[in-house]
Amino acid sequence: MSLRNLFISVTCALLLASRGAAAPAASSVVSPSASSVAAPLSASSPAASSPSPALSSSETEPSSTVSAPPVSETVAPASDDPNYVAWTSDYTGTPEAIRDSLGGTVIGPQNVPLDLENPDLLAPPTTDNGLVANAKWPFSLSHNRLQTGGWARQQNVDQLPAATELAGVDMRLEAGAIRELHWHTASEWAYVTRGSVQVTAVNQLGQNFVGTANKGDLWFFPAGVPHSLQATNATEDGAEFLLVFDNGTFDEDGTFLITDWLAHTPKEVIAKNFQAPISVFNEIPGEELYIFPAASPGPDSDAPAGPYGTVPSPYTFAMSQMSATELSGGSVKIVDSHVFNISKTTAVAEVTVNPGAMRELHWHPTQDEWTYFLEGNARVTVFASSGNANTFDYQGGDIAYIPAANGHYVENIGNTTLRYLEVFKTATFQDVSLSQWLALTPPAMIEATLNINAEDLKYFSKTKSIVIGPAPVNGTANGTTAA
Ligand SMILES: *[C@@H]1O[C@H](CO)[C@@H](O)[C@H](O)[C@H]1NC(C)=O
Ligand SMILES: *[C@@H]1O[C@H](CO)[C@@H](O)[C@H](O)[C@H]1NC(C)=O
Ligand SMILES: *[C@@H]1O[C@H](CO)[C@@H](O)[C@H](O)[C@H]1NC(C)=O
Ligand SMILES: *[C@@H]1O[C@H](CO)[C@@H](O)[C@H](O)[C@H]1NC(C)=O
Ligand SMILES: *[C@@H]1O[C@H](CO)[C@@H](O)[C@H](O)[C@H]1NC(C)=O
Ligand SMILES: *[C@@H]1O[C@H](CO)[C@@H](O)[C@H](O)[C@H]1NC(C)=O
Repeated sequence: MSLRNLFISVTCALLLASRGAAAPAASSVVSPSASSVAAPLSASSPAASSPSPALSSSETEPSSTVSAPPVSETVAPASDDPNYVAWTSDYTGTPEAIRDSLGGTVIGPQNVPLDLENPDLLAPPTTDNGLVANAKWPFSLSHNRLQTGGWARQQNVDQLPAATELAGVDMRLEAGAIRELHWHTASEWAYVTRGSVQVTAVNQLGQNFVGTANKGDLWFFPAGVPHSLQATNATEDGAEFLLVFDNGTFDEDGTFLITDWLAHTPKEVIAKNFQAPISVFNEIPGEELYIFPAASPGPDSDAPAGPYGTVPSPYTFAMSQMSATELSGGSVKIVDSHVFNISKTTAVAEVTVNPGAMRELHWHPTQDEWTYFLEGNARVTVFASSGNANTFDYQGGDIAYIPAANGHYVENIGNTTLRYLEVFKTATFQDVSLSQWLALTPPAMIEATLNINAEDLKYFSKTKSIVIGPAPVNGTANGTTAA
């Protein structure tokens, strides 16, 4: 008898001993349709009467001539509880810390709106275990900085201690308003969420750039390159955009501002520096401006002609004009330095996930993921090894942070399209697909490891699905890009 059969015999024996004659299905093939994701917890054992695939296989006849290996060499199968989210965004009742027979009602003080938004914190799936570093920060909990003409709020390691590689800022500029000329030690990558923004920059070689980024477009400034941002009046209410910096300790209030510098430089030095009469600088601001109102940029704001020309690689990228790769469960646009040449330290995947569909189980081999949710409702479990796995819920305006190598998925648990950005500190986007890994590993290895039948290996895809789904119906895979 092969080692695999030996293992199955022992597993079956254990099952029969611990659960009686009706062994649960090791992997349920009867999955609910997308709309029943919101099913109450009572739907937790739909497969209880299904025969176990292991038991129904002809090659698993227990043999009386082989003695079982020690119990330490095998384990009981995973629970067959599908562990659906306990409630969804349309739920209006009182959220309770109850999952099947576990937990109990909340009888002390309760922040109901927060509990409604975080079902997987109050009533986690039973597959959650141990602790992973907090992986959620809503910009709504960031302290805002209000200025005439706009505002800015940030997330860095102070808000999300695990987020050591990347930090984020949500910035709003009314039409014409300026985020003043400045520079900083980190690189700056941006995604325009609304309106359009004129950006200017001059690099260390004296090459300049003026460009416009519209909704869905990007810009990128390498560390130390001085730049400015200004909302145009292309839309009446100006612009809002996301900034991501390649350093988790980045502080938006700690950038180098031109007004701050000059306000703290002796006027005689300023005059000498520019070889100008000191009176030229009579009216310069006495402190930093940061964000301030101004007239919208006009058509004459092209980059001034200079001896060294303009930068060879533009600082903006028209991601909104790029066509998305259509997937079975949504779509994706990937922009890294292979298409946006200057963006050497930041890469992005803009992902859409249809209702019921899911960004497949995967991880990123070397880079932490800084995630920004644009719209929709998402459920993510972060697997941090050693039995540690925690599930979090997100909606538009929330940030997720998933350390390198940590396994995860992003499931759309709402009725609307889920759209989000995966941002990485890297020149090249990379991920490892669980399904592809399994499909490209010798089958005997997978059968022995996962205790599944040879004919079920067809469910693993040799090509990356990226976004998959919705759930298979009656065992028929829907959406796999089977090889
Ligand atoms: C991140 O910025 C801090 C200062 O805020 C600096 O000390 C540190 O070296 C930077 N890290 C990297 C990787 O550049
Ligand atoms: C937008 O700003 C430009 C430049 O200041 C100005 O010429 C134009 O009239 C403005 N358009 C609107 C609709 O306000
Ligand atoms: C990016 O770099 C490649 C190779 O160096 C070059 O062919 C391409 O024109 C560049 N694209 C842009 C937009 O600068
Ligand atoms: C989705 O729509 C269905 C049908 O209208 C409804 O029963 C369900 O509760 C909705 N779910 C969410 C998350 O909004
Ligand atoms: C799935 O199976 C159920 C029960 O046999 C059946 O009623 C239903 O029509 C099937 N659905 C599909 C999409 O085949
Ligand atoms: C897969 O799911 C989509 C969306 O629910 C549906 O339109 C399509 O018919 C399904 N395809 C198959 C082969 O079941």
